Amino acid sequence: MQITTTLTSSPTDDARLAEILENPGFGTHFTDHMFTVEWTPTDGWHDARITPYGPLTLDPAAAVLHYAQEIFEGMKAYRHDDGSVWMFRPEANAERMVRSCDRLALPELPADDFVQAVAALVEVDQRFVPSNSGAGEKSLYLRPFMFASEKFLGVRPAEHVTFMVIASPAGAYFKGGAKPVSLWLTEEYTRAGRGGMGAAKTGGNYASSLVAQREAYAHGCDQVVFLDGQEGKYVEELGGMNMYFVFDDGSIVTPETGTILEGITRSSIIELAGKMGHHVTERKFAIDEWRDGVASGRITEVFACGTAAVVTPVGALRTKDGDVPAPASTDLTMRIREALVDVQFGRADDTFGWMK
Ligand code: COI
Repeated sequence: MQITTTLTSSPTDDARLAEILENPGFGTHFTDHMFTVEWTPTDGWHDARITPYGPLTLDPAAAVLHYAQEIFEGMKAYRHDDGSVWMFRPEANAERMVRSCDRLALPELPADDFVQAVAALVEVDQRFVPSNSGAGEKSLYLRPFMFASEKFLGVRPAEHVTFMVIASPAGAYFKGGAKPVSLWLTEEYTRAGRGGMGAAKTGGNYASSLVAQREAYAHGCDQVVFLDGQEGKYVEELGGMNMYFVFDDGSIVTPETGTILEGITRSSIIELAGKMGHHVTERKFAIDEWRDGVASGRITEVFACGTAAVVTPVGALRTKDGDVPAPASTDLTMRIREALVDVQFGRADDTFGWMK
């Protein structure tokens, strides 16, 4: 893919950048540039460009604004102690985006083009990748996304589609860092059904989680847990994270895929925990098993994971029928977190070849 680059004439000055990188928060500061490429049936993907970051001009009839034909990815670039910058498993995100394209009837962006686009933006804006000399695990969060930009109100797959990448220096997703998060169990709302979009990374899945997330806040909880849409019995995922359950014999269970997001962090943990000697199973996991397992002590830890949240211990679960207390430990959770971030920050051997 041929990319043209137009650099900004007003780059963020060094003092302001230092301030941002010192305390980036999550999702509020953006780099100086963005990547864009367009698609039409006649020209395919064309006009790939990096330009100064700025607002879009979008026709009010653009299909995405009406029918939500949109997908996105979340990934990160990390600065190692020697100053070099690395991305974590970009091909895995590229492949997942292809699967999301297929589900949302969007044109497939070849995985090589996806990786090239993201790498090009990281290269141009590499001064925005935080170093980690201070506290915390800071990185450059990358947000590739694709949407129906055609001006047309008929309901059919769009014939003008735009793919973009923006980037945002990021610290911890949760204000408390790696402290246990409290969860609210929604039994009224579900996020996916059979044949639905649960496995796709599409904005609609996150939009549908918000009313339940609001309920979670109203109950004093950080995040919401969804159950399956068919039987309302099995744990699926949180509003924006996958889940893991640790048993007293060291075995680990994570809900099987199909209607949940196929998290890259989720699949990396399956490999990492396996290497650490733990037996990991992907299967249906009933909400009653959670309740009973914590009560009997068989479940010793529960944690959530995602690109933004990394690996975060789960504390108490609040339900309409009463609370399930926080599990006894966070020990293995924190060791898995360490093992993962050590690879990401170049402090451990990258035996899986994840860093690019
Ligand atoms: C990510 O973890 O990258 C996501 O896309 C989820 C969102 C909650 C930030």
